Amino acid sequence: MSDSLRRTAAALVGEGKGILAADESNGTMDKRLRAAGVEPGVETRRALRELLFTTEGAAQYISGVILYDETFRQSTTDGVAFPRLLEDQGVVAGIKVDTGAKPLAQADDETITEGLDGLRERLAEYYAGGARFAKWRAVIAVDEQRPSRYCVHVNAHALARYAALCQEAQIVPIVEPEVLMDGAHTIDRSEQVTGAVLATVFEELREQRVLLEGMLLKPNMVLAGYECPEQPDDEVVAERTLRCLRRNVPAAVPGIVFLSGGQSDEDATARLNLMNQMGSQPWEISFSYGRGLQAAALTTWHGDSDNVAAAQAQYRHRARCTAAARRGEYSPEIERELLASR
Ligand code: 13P
Repeated sequence: MSDSLRRTAAALVGEGKGILAADESNGTMDKRLRAAGVEPGVETRRALRELLFTTEGAAQYISGVILYDETFRQSTTDGVAFPRLLEDQGVVAGIKVDTGAKPLAQADDETITEGLDGLRERLAEYYAGGARFAKWRAVIAVDEQRPSRYCVHVNAHALARYAALCQEAQIVPIVEPEVLMDGAHTIDRSEQVTGAVLATVFEELREQRVLLEGMLLKPNMVLAGYECPEQPDDEVVAERTLRCLRRNVPAAVPGIVFLSGGQSDEDATARLNLMNQMGSQPWEISFSYGRGLQAAALTTWHGDSDNVAAAQAQYRHRARCTAAARRGEYSPEIERELLASR
């Protein structure tokens, strides 16, 4: 059992590849569609996912795709189930299994991620449907009072309960404790909070007997809050992020797959690239981007079937640039060259 977990985790952070997080809940996806001027709905969500998953050449750069329950059960217009479509391209199908961040009782504006009830049974069903990895996202907000120790602790505990259940079902857990970058906090504060959160998460993972070699960590990069007047340059972000991870993430973990958060596509790519240029680390340094891979494609598509090819070219371009960054071979020049040769 542990061999298959290790193999899947290693494949997900294989050379030059990373993960597409296409697991937006229906509510989040509809919000993004509306913001792009597209009428939301079940068929629109399906059409967008078909566009992404049938993009020729993307599988060179994408090792796995995280799906949402609705998408997991949907198919192409030709009737091929999405998990099957991915598997046929050698791409591992993943599934988001948390049911979202809900208000935390007795806390002031903090959340706890839910979804443990019935999780063992749901994991068995997802495994039978082809899922080999999963995701659970805990959300940690930062300001002068937050996060409370209480919030960090209960979210870390839930992440570990989820991870243990995944491994029991032979599914690789992606453990995502996201420290939000909303607000005006400094990069120092971000490093301190991210470090404390990671330390607590690994304490719980060990306590709950999670096999570190059979999981992946999906953290935020260490950034200043988006409203902080002092914004560090990319080198500082890369150095602080690596320092924080080295201090808190055991070397037994095979890979770190960053989320893109609200960073611009080019910032998320450039910072990943720098981290891959800063010497060898105990773990693979890769990506599990949602917006960072899809935003340009969504805008280009605009819900119009005439734009599918152009939108797929945008997605392929972003995947190619991000995969170059995963190897430490990205630069703004390459960004432009790849765009011209696409
Ligand atoms: P972003 O890259 O858009 O932050 O999404 C990644 C993700 O899966 C967040 O849970």
